[in-house]
Amino acid sequence: MEYSSSNVDSNQTEAHDKVGEVVHKHWRTQFQKPIAEHNQRAYQQAIAAINKPSIIFDSGCGNGNSTLKLAAQYPDSFIIGIDKSLSRLTKQADKANQSLNNPNFILIRADLIDFWRLAANDNIALLRHFILYPNPWPKKHHLKRRWHTSPLFKTIIALGGQLEIRSNWPIYIDEFSTALTTQRFTSQKILLEIHNNQWLSDFEKKYHKSQHSLWQLTADLTVDNRNNG
Ligand SMILES: C[S@@+](CC[C@H](N)C(=O)[O-])C[C@H]1O[C@@H](n2cnc3c(N)ncnc32)[C@H](O)[C@@H]1O
Repeated sequence: MEYSSSNVDSNQTEAHDKVGEVVHKHWRTQFQKPIAEHNQRAYQQAIAAINKPSIIFDSGCGNGNSTLKLAAQYPDSFIIGIDKSLSRLTKQADKANQSLNNPNFILIRADLIDFWRLAANDNIALLRHFILYPNPWPKKHHLKRRWHTSPLFKTIIALGGQLEIRSNWPIYIDEFSTALTTQRFTSQKILLEIHNNQWLSDFEKKYHKSQHSLWQLTADLTVDNRNNG
């Protein structure tokens, strides 16, 4: 099969100069959006399924193939794959959730905007947090739709753990790093190498086959690790 996914089309050539300003503004204000009932129910379903001492989120998991791979990679953790898209998730979720007895993962349809806040309100501390190929919202005026410049950035930090973000748009990674720096967290950026078809998610496969450069940011969001400079 031919893969020809086009590169991210953006009118930005570098990180947006307002990242710090937007993060600070959100930091000072309370995000008041009410939690939708269906997201509350989905959250409760996920929490009730946890059968391991540590929790990993695969946020925006798409069809959930990455969640299944993470479950095999981290057998001592419980992986929660969350996506709001019914068409991406449903078939796979039903198949995967029913295929194993007492699996160490669940695929859940929910909006992260609510799911993350519910988890943070319950003081859930993640072991790891994967956000693989988030929608880049690449136009300059889309800035506030990106996770790091959304009101949810605070919540991502509150959930803690080892954060791993992957993107085929290096500016997203650079901006996320800048946003973390405003809160005194350090991060590492690397060019990802995919060997022997070992892609973690379907978007990763698509971009790799289309010969895009793939970037990864990692950050330790454990509070103790904060750089108190
Ligand atoms: C580009 S796709 C990447 C999917 C998958 N992580 C992968 O790498 O194959 C981004 C995914 O994020 C999901 N998403 C975006 N915003 C979301 C939100 N607010 N809540 C839940 N899922 C969201 C979309 O539905 C989509 O499946």
